[in-house]
Amino acid sequence: MNRKKITQIYNNKIKELNNHNKLYYSENSPVISDAKYDILKFEIIELEKNYNYLKNKNSPSTNVGYKPSKSFEKFKHKVPMLSLSNAFDKEDLENFEKKIFNYLNKKSILEYSVEPKIDGISASLIYKNKKLQYGVSRGDGKIGEIITDNLKTIKDIPINIDKKGFPNEVEIRGEVFIKKKDFLKISSNFANPRNAASGTLRQKDPKETKKIPLNFIAYTFGYIQNNSCKYQSEFLEDLKRWGFKTNADNIILKDIGELIKFHEKFEKKRFDLDYDVDGLVYKVNDIGLQNRLGFTSNSPRWAIAHKFSADSATTKILKIDIQIGRTGALTPVAKVEPVNIGGVVVSNATLHNEDEIKRKDIRVGDNVKIERAGDVIPHVIEVDVSRRNKNSKPFIFPEKCPSCGSKTLKEYNKTTKKHDAVRRCTNDSYGCEKIGIEKLKHFISKEALNIDGLGKKVVENFWNLKFLRKPQDIFKLDYDKIEKLEGWGKLSVSNLKISIENSKEVSLHRFIFSLGIRHIGSENAKIICDYVKSISKFIELVKKKQFYKFLNIDGIGETQINSLTSFFENQQNLNIVIELTNILNIKNQTLSKNGILKNKTFMFTGKLNGISRAEAKSMVEKNSGITVSSVNKNLNYLIVGDKPTKRKLDQAKLLDVEILSLDGLKKLLN
Ligand code: IVH
Repeated sequence: MNRKKITQIYNNKIKELNNHNKLYYSENSPVISDAKYDILKFEIIELEKNYNYLKNKNSPSTNVGYKPSKSFEKFKHKVPMLSLSNAFDKEDLENFEKKIFNYLNKKSILEYSVEPKIDGISASLIYKNKKLQYGVSRGDGKIGEIITDNLKTIKDIPINIDKKGFPNEVEIRGEVFIKKKDFLKISSNFANPRNAASGTLRQKDPKETKKIPLNFIAYTFGYIQNNSCKYQSEFLEDLKRWGFKTNADNIILKDIGELIKFHEKFEKKRFDLDYDVDGLVYKVNDIGLQNRLGFTSNSPRWAIAHKFSADSATTKILKIDIQIGRTGALTPVAKVEPVNIGGVVVSNATLHNEDEIKRKDIRVGDNVKIERAGDVIPHVIEVDVSRRNKNSKPFIFPEKCPSCGSKTLKEYNKTTKKHDAVRRCTNDSYGCEKIGIEKLKHFISKEALNIDGLGKKVVENFWNLKFLRKPQDIFKLDYDKIEKLEGWGKLSVSNLKISIENSKEVSLHRFIFSLGIRHIGSENAKIICDYVKSISKFIELVKKKQFYKFLNIDGIGETQINSLTSFFENQQNLNIVIELTNILNIKNQTLSKNGILKNKTFMFTGKLNGISRAEAKSMVEKNSGITVSSVNKNLNYLIVGDKPTKRKLDQAKLLDVEILSLDGLKKLLN
């Protein structure tokens, strides 16, 4: 290839990379995976290494990000915020260490500070006289944006620090990120947790930022007045003392063998963490050596990011199905040629919603890359457009519900002033077959009526046989008919009958939850139950349409009130509820306030022996205990089953939370 051709390829790759930079940093909507981005970057740098005449001011070897957006005031970093070079295997690590030894002109054992590389957005916090003066984004590494007010909304960021030894002038750097569980709640608006964090941080109005729970973990400094720390690990300890969160999995390791072993272990464990990590960062622990080693043009010589292999594979989309959920949401699902991803055969991948299909232009017949991470449903990351069939056509999202033919709608959200990304069937009741089936499955589920003899498959089967159309039909089943069905016998029918009979005794909050009203989950049902106290009061409010009274209740807002109102405006829903109250024995406020576990909080981790999590929770709640979902200093008991999450255990130990087995809990209850 001649010089002209090579320069052309090189420039095109840089143009492509910058385009992705723009989509990623300025628009929060990447169209390629991180892994593919890394490959593109790698190719450019390799070309530069092989052909020394190649130069471009936009090359990733001189630039570390995209220029910041214009809407925030700019801030020149006192010390540039650089990026890290990547290692993917042992050889890369050996090269990294070899370069260090060459540079220092000696070969000895190096100690590394090993830190999980959280996949978020870095931020710089400038403290003067123990007060947070500026919070700045990384921007292009040299110039960032002042986002102080937005950063101040993050609870992990201390605003005033009154701790001994905290320097008068210091710049702390760390990662802003969103937890996986919080991301799930807003995932329709962002491609991944990292973009959610970035998008949220760059809101013009800090009130918008505050709505989304962001976290901050500190890991380094930009500059410090009179730094006395000799080791990175020592600095991490200081950070903790000053009141910053640091990563609980930070560790000191000695050589490449240890690094590789830890990497292998952590790569498996990463799916259990409640935040995304894309690798480990290894930093030479000795800050004196760090200073001697210094930086190349865009990364330190003393640190490297050892990336995790992405759990992904390429396959082909065979068809796109539309699933309809209990609340009428139309979710597109790609049926793909079965492919093995990290030991699991995947044949379905969620496409999230109509907007996502449009944005990525996903079509039937496309070759796509699919990622699977932890428990999250596999999803399409990108389409290989180069392999697309000439005759392929864009996917047309149905405007009518594929189940009942009703109109579908993207709701308008008055608060965000945006149309929802999710399209919904407007037939919000049992009139739509698919919604009806899903509602029934919800009605019998563990946290609702808990009819365990009637599983999801049985509901589908009974629906097809026209045994079931509405929840009340469950209590009028013809058991003689069922006994004659294939797969049923005397014993199984008798068990079904018992579990249906038992379910008639139901507490008020479970009953409210069982109705499957949008935005009224288990927690909200309990809050409403606490307020109304009895089913008769609930029905009275329902009949008089006085849901506005709930506005006084802490935890219930306009969204919930609107949802309750529209649910009960539907006469069919109202009739179902009234009929059910005649069949069921709905126990008034049974959450005794003065039970033996009064004011005590409980959390569960691991698989409990012999009972389900739902049952254990209800055991606690029946005795006035409160179940929570995160370990914090207010937690009283962590109940531990088989294979608990180590992190939760460690946190509990650190915070002196009492740790009990299931038997221990039973003992508490006598
Ligand atoms: S040190 C020059 N430590 O990774 C030193 N970075 O590719 C760079 N990151 O921009 C920062 N966890 O957003 C460092 N423990 C950690 C990190 C970490 C995540 C991110 C950070 C940085 C990027 C570098």
